[in-house]
Amino acid sequence: MDPDPPARRRLFVQNFGCQMNDYDVERMREVMGARGYDAAESAEDADLIVINTCSVREKAEAKVASAAGRFRELKQARPGLMVAIGGCVAQQEGERLLKRIPVADFTFGPDQIPSLGALVDRRAAGGRFAATEVVEVEDYRFLTAEPRRGQVPVTALVTIQKGCDNHCAFCVVPATRGREVSRPWQEVVDEVARFVAAGAREVTLIGQNVNSYHGVGLPKDQSGGDDFAELLARVDRVEGLKRLRYTTSHPHDFTDKVADAFRDLRTLCAWLHLPVQSGSSRTLKRMVRDYTRDQYLRQIDYVRSVCPDISLSTDIIVGYPGETDADFAETLTLLERVEYDSIYSFEYSERPDTPALKLALRDNVAPEVKAERLQAVQALQKGITARRLGRWVGRDVEVLVEGDSARYPGQLCGRTTGNEMVNFAGPPSLTGELVTVKIVAARGHTLVGEHAQAGHRLAVIA
Ligand code: SAH
Ligand code: SF4
Ligand code: F3S
Repeated sequence: MDPDPPARRRLFVQNFGCQMNDYDVERMREVMGARGYDAAESAEDADLIVINTCSVREKAEAKVASAAGRFRELKQARPGLMVAIGGCVAQQEGERLLKRIPVADFTFGPDQIPSLGALVDRRAAGGRFAATEVVEVEDYRFLTAEPRRGQVPVTALVTIQKGCDNHCAFCVVPATRGREVSRPWQEVVDEVARFVAAGAREVTLIGQNVNSYHGVGLPKDQSGGDDFAELLARVDRVEGLKRLRYTTSHPHDFTDKVADAFRDLRTLCAWLHLPVQSGSSRTLKRMVRDYTRDQYLRQIDYVRSVCPDISLSTDIIVGYPGETDADFAETLTLLERVEYDSIYSFEYSERPDTPALKLALRDNVAPEVKAERLQAVQALQKGITARRLGRWVGRDVEVLVEGDSARYPGQLCGRTTGNEMVNFAGPPSLTGELVTVKIVAARGHTLVGEHAQAGHRLAVIA
């Protein structure tokens, strides 16, 4: 008789941060899955807990400490349980985290994910450690995703790039994720095809600055934005793919050719996240963003000229060092001028190892001024978002159904091409389909839909 197979174990990940971290969690699940780990429902039934951290804004370490605090008792109750800290804070502060967070068995940076199994073995055999080696740019290999049929969501993430070569003065990402590397285009196309074969219908290509992608290998004078435009065209040809998105863009590398793709490609959704950060050219210069307010507005006008109904979103920082009332007023007028569909807004927070520190840009806007400015931005945008969402009411829109609505039991949820969330009644069997839904109301940040023709079955478009 065969010996009993080794017992399955369970992995639980508490995740913070951006799209890159979301993607990394999936890769951790795959790497550990191959070593006998299933996904745990909760931390309580895990054998390995990973806290996957983000250091982009303040209180990053406090968040890690409070997450780790939750696992202290669990670990006392079950000495075999391992707690590891991954992500950007672990990359930057590995040794310090080990000292400050006794419950941590080891820390590891994003480049160490392929070796996670070996790190677990190393810890089982001996002491605590911080694994922060960064793989050299020339040696970097992207970890291939292994989507399994029936186990992928309708919408999948595919990475096209690691790191970032920009020098935005406020940003910690280049310090945590290292130099920019583009993934070869054939790997990207193959991975998209594998996700589609496994059941995904929409793919979002991710990176910190996707427009500077240069993995197609066009001649040097045509690289940058043109390489990214070419990648989009190649992914667009993947059979069975219904929708394509990408994030995040940097205006510096956002060429007209990339914008033209919104008009020319079959699958590319009418949605663009183009972080502006500030409406003041003076502030943009001191942020080292490499574009002016006018250049940015020209890009917005151009993209709207090729795709009039496009939904736009952005990131805003208020209270950047030296930001005056007049600078800030320009951020408000930019919001009025562009009319974004949605925005993410943040108070500036000083981060370790950022260019701002080297440029002696002191965090000198008073906390209460930052708070007032944030409030003003959000109050202004609230009205704009409501108006923009209102433009859908009464229209028939195409929705990719993602599954049951988490907020509204018994309803389905899905997104429009503009990335607006729609909730509506319908059978769960529509998950993964593109359907036509009539928008009857806007509710907060989401839309309420109904069957395209009342009393009839939803029209299934594809
Ligand atoms: N790579 C992306 C953004 C990465 S960080 C880009 O270049 O657009 C996501 C957002 O966090 C940024 O766009 C910025 O608005 C915000 N952010 C980054 N660093 C910050 C800081 N030190 N303080 C406040 N907000 C910050
Ligand atoms: Fe956070 Fe940036 Fe790291 Fe993403 S890349 S996890 S936003 S610090
Ligand atoms: Fe890079 Fe974005 Fe920062 S492009 S430097 S991560 S704001």
